[in-house]
Amino acid sequence: MAQPPSLPGTTDRRLAALLTLLSENATIVISGARIARETGMSRSTVWRWVEELRKLGVHVKGQRSTGYFLEKVPDILTPDLLRKRLKGNLFGKRVFHFFKTGSTNTVAMELGFAGEPEGTVVMAEAQTAGRGRSGRAWHSEKGAGLYFTVLLRPKLAPAQAPLLTMLAGISAHAAIAAQAGLVTELKWPNDLMMDGKKLGGILTEMHAEPNAVRFVIVGIGINVNQEKFPPELASIATSIRKETGRMSYRLELMARLLGQFESDYNRFLSEGAGFVIERFESISTFTRGRRVRVDTGTDSYVGTTAGLTPEGLLLVNREHGPLMTVIAGDVSEVR
Ligand code: BTN
Repeated sequence: MAQPPSLPGTTDRRLAALLTLLSENATIVISGARIARETGMSRSTVWRWVEELRKLGVHVKGQRSTGYFLEKVPDILTPDLLRKRLKGNLFGKRVFHFFKTGSTNTVAMELGFAGEPEGTVVMAEAQTAGRGRSGRAWHSEKGAGLYFTVLLRPKLAPAQAPLLTMLAGISAHAAIAAQAGLVTELKWPNDLMMDGKKLGGILTEMHAEPNAVRFVIVGIGINVNQEKFPPELASIATSIRKETGRMSYRLELMARLLGQFESDYNRFLSEGAGFVIERFESISTFTRGRRVRVDTGTDSYVGTTAGLTPEGLLLVNREHGPLMTVIAGDVSEVR
């Protein structure tokens, strides 16, 4: 399988291989000689790579004379383990991993321009400039959430690309339910909510000609194991851990989500927008009969949600006014 090209800032392959080896054999002491043999590094440099891992916050126990081990299976997203979980899947081929990057969407955008193929995945343990919709920041605490972006090259008209946001929401909803038993609410177009608090979000960006999409990047952020949020988010954000009281294995959730997303994506490409609209409406109670405030930047009004158009736009019966089609903007519930 073709290895992804190395990209500045991505996790060194030897480091990733060392991490995978230690993770797959957690609690077992592995000698420096075996590590050297299986990761392709020289025996004399194994300890230096172990130090690198420790600097990145991975608790590697042991020493040069005896060998090294991890006390428990770490919840780290090693690209090799993800690829193994996604064998044969569209998203299991090209995986770029960062311990830290600005935004996985920015990296994926650059890779899109550089000609990387459909299915490329960019993931990070932490983002320093994670982005959300409407220019908002996305809180990306190290190792606590899932922060990743997939690159797609679908044959779609630009107007259909936003359906991919809804599609990713549908897949994330299913993966979270399967893994954690949590039934999230999908709030049009891109929010995953639990009891009015945000648990995840999707940011889709594209590069297109007037009539055709060149590529789309779908960035997904999910609050998984956060115990606490900064004060400004504390009342509006939640995580799977806060909702269930349990830690979730992020790699497992990511693999489930991408597995589900591949099959949903294929259905969308073969069956068309109807599949997305129907599925979204069947999951989201938000799309009908909810009193909402719509903020478009130039206009703000209150109304009641009245379903989706065949293109996936939200209909809102404006109070004392006509039926509105929301193309873009913020929609929040008014209680
Ligand atoms: C939103 O709810 O406003 C969208 C949030 C999207 C966050 C994800 S995290 C991975 C990817 N990289 C980013 O900078 N943003 C998306």
